[in-house]
Amino acid sequence: MLIISFPGQMLHLVMGTLRSLPNLLILLLIFFFYSFSAIQSDSKTNQIAGYGYDLRSISVDPSGKSLTAELRLIRESSVYGPDIPNLNLFASFETKDRLRVRITDSDHQRWEVPQHIIPREPPPSHRSMPEDQRVQVDSNKTRGPEKQLVLGLAGSDLVFTLHTTPPFRFTVMRRSTGDILFDSMPTLVFKDRYLEISSALPADRASLYGFGEHTKKSFRLKPNDTLTLWNSDIAAANLDLNLYGSHPFYIDVRSSQPGASGPGGTTHGVLLLNSNGMDIVYGGSYITYKVIGGILDFYFFAGPSPLSVIDQYTKLIGRPVPMPYWSFGFHQCRYGYKNLLDLKSVVAGYAKAKIPLEVMWTDIDYMDAFKDFTLDPVNFPAAEMKQFVEHLHQNGQKYVLILDPGINVNNTYDTFKRGMRDGIFLKRNGTYYLGKVWPGLVYFPDFLNPAAAVFWAREIAIFRQTIPVDGLWIDMNEISNFIDPSPLNALDDPPYRINNSGVRRPINNKTVPASAIHFGNVSEYNAHNLYGWLESRATHDALMYDTGKRPFVLSRSTFVGSGKYTAHWTGDNAATWDDLAYSIPSILNFGLFGVPMVGADICGFGGDTTEELCRRWIQLGAFYPFARDHSAIHTIRQELYIWDSVAQAARKALGLRYRLLPYFYTLMHEAHVRGSPIARPLFFSFPEDTETYGISTQFLIGPGVMVSPVVEPGNVTVNAYFPAGRWFNLFNYSQKVDANAGKYVNLDAPEDTINVHVRGGNILPMQKPEMTTELARKSGYELLVVVDENGAATGEVFVDDGEVVEMGGEGGDWSFVRFKSEIENKYLKLKSEVVNGKYALEHKLVIEKVVLLGFELERSLGMGSIYMNGVEMKRVEHGKIGRFGIAQIEGLSQLLGE
Ligand code: GLC
Repeated sequence: MLIISFPGQMLHLVMGTLRSLPNLLILLLIFFFYSFSAIQSDSKTNQIAGYGYDLRSISVDPSGKSLTAELRLIRESSVYGPDIPNLNLFASFETKDRLRVRITDSDHQRWEVPQHIIPREPPPSHRSMPEDQRVQVDSNKTRGPEKQLVLGLAGSDLVFTLHTTPPFRFTVMRRSTGDILFDSMPTLVFKDRYLEISSALPADRASLYGFGEHTKKSFRLKPNDTLTLWNSDIAAANLDLNLYGSHPFYIDVRSSQPGASGPGGTTHGVLLLNSNGMDIVYGGSYITYKVIGGILDFYFFAGPSPLSVIDQYTKLIGRPVPMPYWSFGFHQCRYGYKNLLDLKSVVAGYAKAKIPLEVMWTDIDYMDAFKDFTLDPVNFPAAEMKQFVEHLHQNGQKYVLILDPGINVNNTYDTFKRGMRDGIFLKRNGTYYLGKVWPGLVYFPDFLNPAAAVFWAREIAIFRQTIPVDGLWIDMNEISNFIDPSPLNALDDPPYRINNSGVRRPINNKTVPASAIHFGNVSEYNAHNLYGWLESRATHDALMYDTGKRPFVLSRSTFVGSGKYTAHWTGDNAATWDDLAYSIPSILNFGLFGVPMVGADICGFGGDTTEELCRRWIQLGAFYPFARDHSAIHTIRQELYIWDSVAQAARKALGLRYRLLPYFYTLMHEAHVRGSPIARPLFFSFPEDTETYGISTQFLIGPGVMVSPVVEPGNVTVNAYFPAGRWFNLFNYSQKVDANAGKYVNLDAPEDTINVHVRGGNILPMQKPEMTTELARKSGYELLVVVDENGAATGEVFVDDGEVVEMGGEGGDWSFVRFKSEIENKYLKLKSEVVNGKYALEHKLVIEKVVLLGFELERSLGMGSIYMNGVEMKRVEHGKIGRFGIAQIEGLSQLLGE
């Protein structure tokens, strides 16, 4: 038996299951022995077999929350360069819900995601650990039966275990269920430009979601898939390829273990915080990361609900930035608007068709020879453009323009000259790197250089004097380059080729070369995936300083934590039925990634759309968090008023969206404070219902509104899944489902109709549909109270002026009100709890109408005796929907903030 002691630490020898361990100890450090059946590495994983490290020494931090271990290479491998001989492992409970496991070179500092991008606790330097706190592990003594070192934290459901028998591996377990969440196989590979680590997974119980950015048919990841992360300008219309952003994060929803008593659906999250290119091979029973640089820096998030995982994740990576209220209106864009007249006629077309248009956009067409911060003097003359924008503003509408990162190399171009003066462009081999994009030859601002953000902010401020745009759209920031740079050094051609573009193309393909050098001597090889993130921050900050208002930025390229600064659209999809359907998994993914403001190009970007496709797409797109119609140059026009049937469907679907604006905006607030996605997979509300795990064509808005679109041509019905509960159609309040268990229902979906249902238990704040969000916000509030079988429902509303930088800040000018219905003495009572009434009272916001849905008639809940905050409501009209009652109380003047 191996007996060790740690100064100042408690040592326990335990035999038995970890689940029975006491929960009280601050630190639980245990060696224990039990018979062990080694996890065999799966031949399909294509791992480098037989390699790995063993454990040399362990030290425990005096705080008791972390440990450091030294690992030593036991057998070298021959491919992808020499192995790093000594590694340092640091495991730390940063909070009770978050465990970090970081493995890096003991002897040399390596690239890692900069602190200013994801601020995090600096790990202790192992070398500075006093010798007497290190415990040497004699590998001879650790041979034989499996031996383990366990780290746990009081109140945490996660348990970290180091398996000391060579080759070393570690596991992360959920204490409450005994479920092994991550089990690193004993095949760790750590080289300068190739890292490989795997985890075993219970193939029959694990459902994985995440890793981006890719277009996928199925939201749940399918086994035998290689997910490549390397930001690329590859059209979203391509299935399964690495696209514009990199998010090495997944969640794993576990159905219950055979024989387990509790419900399934416990969820955890795993982030590999690393900005280098990588392939992630998901094989069902395992997951393997093959990474071409950086370090292994894992974060495990305990959950146990899907929402709590995203809360814990966004607490680390940054909470989603609040979006202005207006950005929840409908947006119209197109690549190929010819001139100002064209823009004006589109705005007029929407007004005439009575379809709400909140934001008009212009693509690169507005620029003079595609140069950023310029206007084409003939087709988009400055003075008239300014008038146009002012006119939009008078109508309560907004204007957004595109910017690309490449600055045209041109000595008659002021922006270029100022950039040269400031020395902010990206370099390679001692000179500025010359790329090629829309304007021809370009230099790229190096946003790792703080001076580049200053340059960018100044250019934006100067430009806004000419044309006071309300938001900015930053495109091509992967960085997209129209040429393939030839290799200069080893960085351009690393030993392991990730599956770039699905064909293991060189990583330089159609981007800036990996050998380019950023500020601080950082290679593009390491920082490539950060460019969009950095440009988003610079653009967000520039708009904030210049306008003093809450910025709206839409970025194509993203990285972990981009949601702190930007919204995202899913890029260049095609006008096909497939891409309509695949937009749902893409949007749900960005909710997981902490970028809740996301949408896909409605009616399709590339290729000609059709009337039917565009009609179905606006019905779906009306419920994307970010709703924008956008199309490519030379395609047919697809503004929503072009076809009567599309216009009609748009009026109907957007009408409901605009009624729901207070709900969307309140969800934005929830996203900002807790990270919660706005558009959510069904299992977010029903994690115990395993049928929801595989659903990719329906989604929820918030907790209780379900969207079930038609995603196939010719269909006028939808076979939709309804989790248990009572569900009502949000357009006409008809009751659809009332079931104790989930079931599929065939719904009618005539051409002007999308199915949107609300579930019993929810209270939705609503307003009237209008042509702009500004007008809609002036209408009285309606509460739709949809009770469950116990008469209970909850909801909330957040209000502020919609553009103040902070959302719900300290002592701020905002209001937050929670609503609750319950049965008391046979009466249904609706109560509100005002967290902060200031804004609502000052602006005299009034609840004018309450609609009560779902109470059971036979229980004779006194209709006409509905109380709100203790006051009996008068003027109740009531009726019957199936076996349920509906009551409408109109003409109220209940102050929202009271
Ligand atoms: C890129 C963008 C697209 C835009 C086009 C022209 O393809 O993804 O949205 O319209 O560039 O700027």
